[in-house]
Amino acid sequence: MYRTHTCGELRAANIGQTVTLAGWVQRVRKMGGMTFVDLRDRYGITQLRVDDSSAEAVRTTAARLGREFVIQATGVVEERASKNAKIPTGDIELNLTGITVLNESAVPPFTIEDESDGGEDLRARYRYLDLRRNPLKNALMLRHRIAHEVRNYLDGKNFLEIETPFLIKSTPEGARDFVVPSRMNPGQFYALPQSPQTFKQLLMVAGYDRYFQIVRCFRDEDLRADRQPEFTQIDCEMSFVEQEDVLSLFEGMMRHLFKTIHNFDIPNPMPRITWYDAMDSYGSDKPDIRFGMKLHELSALLQGHGFSVFDGAEYIGGIAVPGAAEYTRKQIDELTEWVKRPQVGAKGMVYIRWNADGSIKSSVDKFYTPEILQQAAEAAGAAKGDLVLILCGAKRKTQTQLGVLRIEMGNRLDLRKPFDYAPLWVVDFPLFEWDDETQRFYAMHHPFTAPKPEHLDWYYSNKKEDLERVCANAYDFVLNGVELGGGSIRIHEAEVQKRMFEILGISAEDAEAKFGFIINAFRFGAPPHGGLAFGFDRVCALFGGQETIRDYIAFPKNNMGRDVMLDAPSEIDQTQMDELCLASVLKPE
Ligand code: AMO
Repeated sequence: MYRTHTCGELRAANIGQTVTLAGWVQRVRKMGGMTFVDLRDRYGITQLRVDDSSAEAVRTTAARLGREFVIQATGVVEERASKNAKIPTGDIELNLTGITVLNESAVPPFTIEDESDGGEDLRARYRYLDLRRNPLKNALMLRHRIAHEVRNYLDGKNFLEIETPFLIKSTPEGARDFVVPSRMNPGQFYALPQSPQTFKQLLMVAGYDRYFQIVRCFRDEDLRADRQPEFTQIDCEMSFVEQEDVLSLFEGMMRHLFKTIHNFDIPNPMPRITWYDAMDSYGSDKPDIRFGMKLHELSALLQGHGFSVFDGAEYIGGIAVPGAAEYTRKQIDELTEWVKRPQVGAKGMVYIRWNADGSIKSSVDKFYTPEILQQAAEAAGAAKGDLVLILCGAKRKTQTQLGVLRIEMGNRLDLRKPFDYAPLWVVDFPLFEWDDETQRFYAMHHPFTAPKPEHLDWYYSNKKEDLERVCANAYDFVLNGVELGGGSIRIHEAEVQKRMFEILGISAEDAEAKFGFIINAFRFGAPPHGGLAFGFDRVCALFGGQETIRDYIAFPKNNMGRDVMLDAPSEIDQTQMDELCLASVLKPE
């Protein structure tokens, strides 16, 4: 037996017992004739003591210990002279009677402490060492607990966990596919699933009624803090349901997670907002509702006063930043530059400063009287002492820019505290998005999403403005400005599906080639069904108080989609290329 206890287990009640621990040497401290070793394993840290009275062999071995050596230590549990209230084992230490080095360790390239001295790249290369650190260990433990509670909840609601294949054909999520060449079918490729979307619908056709899976998905898209090329979904589908059934069941799941993980009660019922209201009030389809600073349209008030930039704009909107009237000219200039960065894309910014003494100052003083400016400030929701920031341009684009600015100001004013949770549903998404460049409609969710039954007339209309008005039976679960999950009620009637492909400009042949298997399956009795998927990595990160998902994944990729530990992707040798009938790969420039 390597050990009798773990390094997190011993307490004052164990005093007097002889025990054996095994783990990694976190730290060795020599104080006079005494040597203290902090021994670490997954469960915690226990202090080991070697002193002049220890056996010769114990003293010799202790003297040669280095950081991250793996050792086995036997000793008597004793009360500590100076207790450490910060750790659960802080009342005791082990007076060593035996010590064995199970394995030596090279000097680690960075310190394995909560705050490491290693840079991100170095830590990624030695991920297995980084994973020894508490922040990452806690993140993975949280992930495990959440997965466990998800399974508990869904199992209790009669869901079956069913696996679906990875080597498949393109799925309808709309990002780029990762593809895998087939040796047995030369010149042909599998696609890795962007989600199990089509399979879970086929499982409904097969009668499985309630399905879920905690499943890896693969998308070749540009990466951000909350995006990885392979990520995990809590993927779910149900039969004989309407939108309301899906929302209440998964609201229940999130309520269960918040309660069991954080002992936090989310509002019951959870707030809901339509996509249109979310865009108009927050400039985002994933609004952070922990703070106000809502968008207000100012077009009617500010147009027709001779300021040509405003007069020519489709939309003028502003946000009132509380208490920011004291911003200096320099700070406002810096903000103006900030909104002009390509990531935000505004052409410029107008401000109205409503000083605490009631006076008004604005960058467009010469076009407007103080009275009009005050009215505009009031319309933007400002009070004395606030600063109003105004952008103009095409409506949705400008709202989105204001939404980004709102989040930035929320960050600057510290209004976005990680452990304040404000979940909501965003509902009534438009079914289609028009793309000016290609002059065609795209599905906002995916082409199996059903239109709202009350919008079917518009759905069958040939007018662009009618089609733009069709709402989808789709919904997103949003938490603190992050889209945690999304789904929809699906189309289960061949006629409605046919019309969808027609609107999206997908010919019958193309639809057949891409999705023939599912269209065909739907001929054999598809039940009404719907579902959703949560981004599991995002759920874990937000529950851990972070927006970056990387720490919640044991072996993540970097921003360039590389695994720097494995050095993947990498070239393959000629034999493998030949077997796969691949002629050449383009070398990066
Ligand atoms: P969707 O594409 O909205 O829906 O994805 C569902 C959720 O998955 C998470 N997510 C990601 N997380 C990390 N990295 C990524 N690259 C990434 N992409 C998406 C998000 C998102 O809300 N089949 C549909 C679901 C359905 O209709 O049932 C789907 O995949 O949190």
